[in-house]
Amino acid sequence: MQTLAGDFRRQDRTVAFVPTMGYLHDGHLSLLAAGRQMADILVVSIFVNPTQFGPGEDYDNYPRDPERDRRLAENAGTDVLFMPEKDQLYPEGYETYVTQTHLPKHLCGLSRPTHFSGVTTIVAKLFNIVKPHYAVFGEKDYQQLAIVRKMTADLNFDTRIVGAPIVRESDGLALSSRNKYLTPQQRQSALSLNRALAEAQRMVAEGETRAETIIEKAVQIITAQPETEIDYVRICDPETLEDAAVIDHPVLMALAVHVGQTRLLDNTMLALQSGEQQ
Ligand code: PAJ
Repeated sequence: MQTLAGDFRRQDRTVAFVPTMGYLHDGHLSLLAAGRQMADILVVSIFVNPTQFGPGEDYDNYPRDPERDRRLAENAGTDVLFMPEKDQLYPEGYETYVTQTHLPKHLCGLSRPTHFSGVTTIVAKLFNIVKPHYAVFGEKDYQQLAIVRKMTADLNFDTRIVGAPIVRESDGLALSSRNKYLTPQQRQSALSLNRALAEAQRMVAEGETRAETIIEKAVQIITAQPETEIDYVRICDPETLEDAAVIDHPVLMALAVHVGQTRLLDNTMLALQSGEQQ
């Protein structure tokens, strides 16, 4: 992969890269489509990265279907599908990690304290292997996107980070490889995540500017559903991820909720209509 990437750069062929953990769905495929449009060569990686899973998390059970993924990636116009083995990226004696000081201290980082250093480490390694001009990440994992953007700037990677919008099922559920874990009843409960965000948008459109009021309503909507347990519901600055008390500029509303054993994420931007801003 590294040799190929060197060849592409020498031949002045631009490379777009989409890193994934596989079990591809339409959310991933939207990233592949964006990458395909952007550059001469589309590289997709599939690697279930052990360092971003905490103890007791679902590394061993994470859904995998490499044959299906291969077909889907090929149909989406992938030029190079990179599927390294765990021991190739983390051989025995591996000891170097990339960590960030502030952004991982918020949102998901509070309940998954080692997760983002696993993400920054693997993404840095993949960038060094694939040497992409562009790398596409989904806004579904908003904090991950913010952290990768910051790492790319801080470490001077020669890669432009591109964010892609959340792809949802027709009933509003954000696509995720982990949706596979949900029973039909849990899937019903999971719809409350997007409903809570939609209600927040409605409240803001009607002039509500207090984050606390909006969060309370969201918590009510989600906890009314069976088998839900909230990890967090937050309204924060989209760059620093610090809590925002008042919606006086475009803010991020982000949430993480356990539905049964499955931890689901969703988010949206909240902004006053331009006429309303003081
Ligand atoms: P994974 O969960 O497989 O997601 C790969 C990419 O797909 C991420 O950028 C994610 O934000 C995006 N994605 C997932 N669901 C989406 C949806 N419904 N709409 C739009 N984009 C969506 O995120 C990871 O893997 C890993 O942490 C990785 C970056 C590969 C590092 O290991």
